[in-house]
Amino acid sequence: MHARYRHNDMEHLRWLLEKHRSARRKLIVTDAVFSMDGDAARLLELAELKREYGAMLMVDEAHSGGLYGSYGEGLCHVLGVHRDVDVHIGTFSKAFGVYGAYVSGSQTLIRWLTNKARTLIYSTALPPHVIAGILRALELVQAEHEGRKRLAAASVRFRSALVNVGFRTESGDSPIVPLIAGDNAAALRFSEALDVAGIAAVAIRPPTVPAGTARIRFSLSAAHTDDELTDAAARICEIGRTLGVTAGE
Ligand SMILES: Cc1ncc(COP(=O)(O)O)c(C=O)c1O
Repeated sequence: MHARYRHNDMEHLRWLLEKHRSARRKLIVTDAVFSMDGDAARLLELAELKREYGAMLMVDEAHSGGLYGSYGEGLCHVLGVHRDVDVHIGTFSKAFGVYGAYVSGSQTLIRWLTNKARTLIYSTALPPHVIAGILRALELVQAEHEGRKRLAAASVRFRSALVNVGFRTESGDSPIVPLIAGDNAAALRFSEALDVAGIAAVAIRPPTVPAGTARIRFSLSAAHTDDELTDAAARICEIGRTLGVTAGE
């Protein structure tokens, strides 16, 4: 069976672990940076809980791999919890700009997956040219020290620009910046108006996010210049005002 804990709610997770204390195996699963909110998981507390309850920990670094750490090792590494992570997964389709994904863990885990994971066993392996692309991307991303710093700083500034004019968003330095629009129609109208203004940002609606929190999800890139982001923030504010999507809605 699986039980779902509330978003980043450690008390709720603890309560569930307590409730299922006698379960033979327990696996705590989390994103490192959440895909729809752009906030970071409470990895230190998750590592403590896993130890306390004899659970395993699985972390998806899809949105943090390549971005955090001197060489883009990811958030687990930066926070020093990588040794607590039993199943470490990530994708090469985001910061690495290629395709494919990885799982890393103990030899026993990898042997088990190789023999039991049907999605792996019954699908074609990545073609060699994709693997070559991944290997090259790993080299490039590791060396992108400046890009990482620039992107984190730009993400903080972009958030501030939105919050200063009264939008609701999550704090942090991840390049995923959600802007809560409220209902689905408002989010769609917003996204369409942004598109006309030359800003590509999709509307994310339930069930991908909780009801009543439809949002625009901006994804920043190290290739965006400061001027582009300042200009985009100004346009977003203007469009938001015109459509009546602003402070705390
Ligand atoms: C948290 C998370 N994990 C995994 C994936 C899947 O990545 P891919 O599309 O490369 O399979 C996504 C995709 O958006 C994601 O948000």
